[in-house]
Amino acid sequence: MGWLSWTAFYCETDCAKHPSGCINEQLYKVQADLMVSEGYKDVGYEYVNVDDCWAQKQRDPATKRMVADHGRFKSGIKALADYVHDKGLKFGLYTDIGTTTCAGYPGELQEGDQGNYFQVDAQTFAEWGIDSLKVDGCNVDTRKMGPLYEQFGRALNDTDRRIVYYCSMPFFQARDEGGPKYKPEEIDFELMAKKCNAWRFFDDINNSWASVRSIIRYYEDGQGTYAKFQGPGAWFDPDMILAGCKTGQGITTEQARSQFAFWSIMSAPLLMSNDLRDISPDLKKILQNKGMIWVNQDERGALAQQVLSGDTGIWLKPLAKENEFAALFYNWNDDGRGYVLNLACPIENIVNDIDGALVYDVIEDFKFVNDVKRGYMLGFDMEPFGVALAKLVVYKRDNGVSDAWRTGNITRIERKANEPFPCFVTRPR
Ligand code: GLA
Repeated sequence: MGWLSWTAFYCETDCAKHPSGCINEQLYKVQADLMVSEGYKDVGYEYVNVDDCWAQKQRDPATKRMVADHGRFKSGIKALADYVHDKGLKFGLYTDIGTTTCAGYPGELQEGDQGNYFQVDAQTFAEWGIDSLKVDGCNVDTRKMGPLYEQFGRALNDTDRRIVYYCSMPFFQARDEGGPKYKPEEIDFELMAKKCNAWRFFDDINNSWASVRSIIRYYEDGQGTYAKFQGPGAWFDPDMILAGCKTGQGITTEQARSQFAFWSIMSAPLLMSNDLRDISPDLKKILQNKGMIWVNQDERGALAQQVLSGDTGIWLKPLAKENEFAALFYNWNDDGRGYVLNLACPIENIVNDIDGALVYDVIEDFKFVNDVKRGYMLGFDMEPFGVALAKLVVYKRDNGVSDAWRTGNITRIERKANEPFPCFVTRPR
């Protein structure tokens, strides 16, 4: 959990024109201050992460080290990392596994297959005291990425600093424009899970519901394929949290809550990209919702899987504690008139081998909803683009353990035109 500058501030380097909204040391210091003073740190946000555009365009000619931009980061990266550490927070930096970053700043490879800067950069970053490193994937042959990420990971491990390692390989391989465009099943997620702590998958998020929806749809399509690769220390990263982000077209408060809930049930990194100087009370409530954060931080770290597909549906994630699940009910419908919908399913269609479940509303402070026995319905009203997030404590008559909980295998009910619908969607009166 933490904060990352990209989607809120992109590569704004003109500090004369945008003194409080450009990529400079002041920006990260202010966000770090607010992370503490506004209570974000208390609920679990930890990392203040720099993205692209922090470096001088040229390395130091003598030492070959990367150098922070002389004008915008006058005190240097080490001083900034120290500042962040003094607040009790952690500090993240950014580089790229190719010759240059996506915005044209120095990367890890030398031009023309002349070798790499893995050792010198790992050493430098460790000396600066970074705690996490996002390693982007522009400007490199995507077919060579696997071994490169592995090698750079080794160089980071050879330093005496523990550094969270973000890799971007799946995203770049899946979209490779000039190259082979890997299908998801051709991507080496096993390598990612072994050698990286998190990996971006699918396009850059932008501040619009269309973007959030397209990311969710991508994970729907990979149902069952991806879940086995994720666990503690190995995370799919669907990109940044938008609540409070001001760039682009923007999303509504309801949509911001839905994104946060979905990222939570996916156990995804919660990296806000916003300006903590300007967050409305409603959005702050979402960003600091203890229930959603609890679902996100559950120790089992499972990737949620879709139980019921369609424009209204359900995702389910087995939690660490025996027989506990998180269930996300969503309504991506909007006919323009703002109708609330109710989605209700027999409880055994949500978790299929149980005799009932105690249900709690996670977003509403774990309020007890009901004891739903086999054959009875569990349902929630949802605004257009809205969600409900529940904790289910399931039980069986023989006091046994739910199979779905034990194996983590979730059966998806596909909606088929000529079969009876396994749940009900109605407009509440
Ligand atoms: C890529 C990444 C983004 C961001 C930019 C920076 O597009 O996916 O998250 O880091 O590069 O240039």
